[in-house]
Amino acid sequence: MPPVYCGFFDTRPKASRDFVFGRDDVINELERLLNNGFWPVILGPRRVGKTTVMRVVINELGGIYIDASTAMGLRGLGLRLVDEVRRLNIRVRLNLAVLQLDIERKPAATIERLIKELGDVIIGIDEVQNIISPRLPALLSVAYNESSVRFIFSGSLVGTTRLIMRSPESLGRPLIRFELKPFIREQSMEFLRLGSRNCGIGISDARLRMP
Ligand SMILES: Nc1ncnc2c1ncn2[C@@H]1O[C@H](COP(=O)(O)OP(=O)(O)O)[C@@H](O)[C@H]1O
Ligand SMILES: [Mg+2]
Repeated sequence: MPPVYCGFFDTRPKASRDFVFGRDDVINELERLLNNGFWPVILGPRRVGKTTVMRVVINELGGIYIDASTAMGLRGLGLRLVDEVRRLNIRVRLNLAVLQLDIERKPAATIERLIKELGDVIIGIDEVQNIISPRLPALLSVAYNESSVRFIFSGSLVGTTRLIMRSPESLGRPLIRFELKPFIREQSMEFLRLGSRNCGIGISDARLRMP
């Protein structure tokens, strides 16, 4: 399918509310949770809009977005974190080149060092269930207890829930499940109606109502 470049129908990744239909309340709630010290975990079926709402939140509040949709270990996560810190010019009292080398040898301890230096930064990890490491819960626990970093996650229901349950005593407090629901029929119709009008495509109401 060729790409569509138009408003709500735009098929490129969206990071602005202006192009996101019907998720204002969800985005506001996620931002409120983050601002109150919670770490939201956005759960929902594929294509429901998890990446989209996470990107808008990070775009609005500022922060690092990490796409973990292809499986990675802690090394992969660490290297992407360093790349983003460099790209976004986030000030840390660490030598990023050295850090990069250390990640190869001691990923968990090095990520820990980096996180403690980051200050109040939001890190979004999209599809977190793909980070294959038994040390992730402990790392998040250190982040919660010893740093000002805030996290927002997205993930599939099954894998992510397992990740959260692995260490309930240390992770129970900040993590909060946030289920993103598919639009109901009326909302979907409104999406098509508004989206098509803004893109100059005429779809009649009768046509929209067709099963
Ligand atoms: N509320 C929305 N308004 C407009 N487009 C949306 C909305 N939610 C999702 N999309 C679009 O649908 C597709 C799938 O969304 P995505 O955020 O990637 O879903 P998920 O991460 O849950 O798999 C993307 O092309 C995205 O731009
Ligand atoms: Mg996604």
